[in-house]
Amino acid sequence: EAGERYAACGKIILLGEHAVVYGRPAIALPIPLAVEAMVRREGQGINIVIPRWGLEQPVHANTQGLSGILAKILKDLDLDRENMTIEVFPHIPRAMGLGGSSALAVAILRALDAQFDLGMDNSRINELAYECEKAAHGTPSGVDNTVATYGTPLRYQQVDGKPIFRDLRLTEPLQLVVGITGRESLTADTVAQVRNAWTQHPDRYNSIFDQIGSLTEAAEQALEQGKLGDLGDLMNLCHGYLNALQLSTPELEELIHIARANGALGAKLTGGGGGGSMIALCPDNPDAVAQAMQAAGYETLSVTVG
Ligand code: PMV
Repeated sequence: EAGERYAACGKIILLGEHAVVYGRPAIALPIPLAVEAMVRREGQGINIVIPRWGLEQPVHANTQGLSGILAKILKDLDLDRENMTIEVFPHIPRAMGLGGSSALAVAILRALDAQFDLGMDNSRINELAYECEKAAHGTPSGVDNTVATYGTPLRYQQVDGKPIFRDLRLTEPLQLVVGITGRESLTADTVAQVRNAWTQHPDRYNSIFDQIGSLTEAAEQALEQGKLGDLGDLMNLCHGYLNALQLSTPELEELIHIARANGALGAKLTGGGGGGSMIALCPDNPDAVAQAMQAAGYETLSVTVG
């Protein structure tokens, strides 16, 4: 029978990436309809199909990557002996720091929930998506799966290992342009790189995380009071610290330069860094900024949040 598609959000980290892994707050914004998924009860065994990535493979325990992670989830849900095809439709590029892996997990969980009447609420879906994130990249803060599940702008923090988050109220929709470097980056690698530096010099790096944390607190106020000029400054400062953590690349720097030169109020890398994507705050001129990035050979994504 024709299945129905279930959607999940991607995310943009406005401020606070990496520091959020060390208990500081982060602000994350949803990218609506980032991934859709559909489950059909058909065929032999369990297969996953992602037409856009040319991927079609059986879901097996003891395999690496997506298929192995899915196998574990299906076992936990007691669905591992069913016959089904899981079809996934990603609408954002992968490994670009936009939360694609969490969105994929949440969309699949929603489609499974509907097809098998599992009665999962958002909190259960969020919990399972977090397990997928852990399997995919070690020590995630949990911000990606939370935004993918709830789909609202959030302040997110881990306190004593537990996620604490609340909705942020925007005074007006926020216009962002995402500049995509095209250079895939594994969050697991950049998180490990930062952890390595922190392990060797905890005091030095804790003070950088504190600085990022206080910029994030200030940004929360700027956002809720509609002070976009302030917010842009805070984004620029935050990028300076991310640069200090050696998370930037020549492509990210070029995109940031283009954004600022074309009138963006602020610009910074977003997510894991080391490639991936950057964001520019452009309330008045998103098209001009996007076109300048495209003219330099980059793909862009224009996002209105709220
Ligand atoms: O690269 P992304 O989109 O998965 O973002 C990662 C954000 C980090 O703070 C670097 C890691 C995390 O788990 O929060």
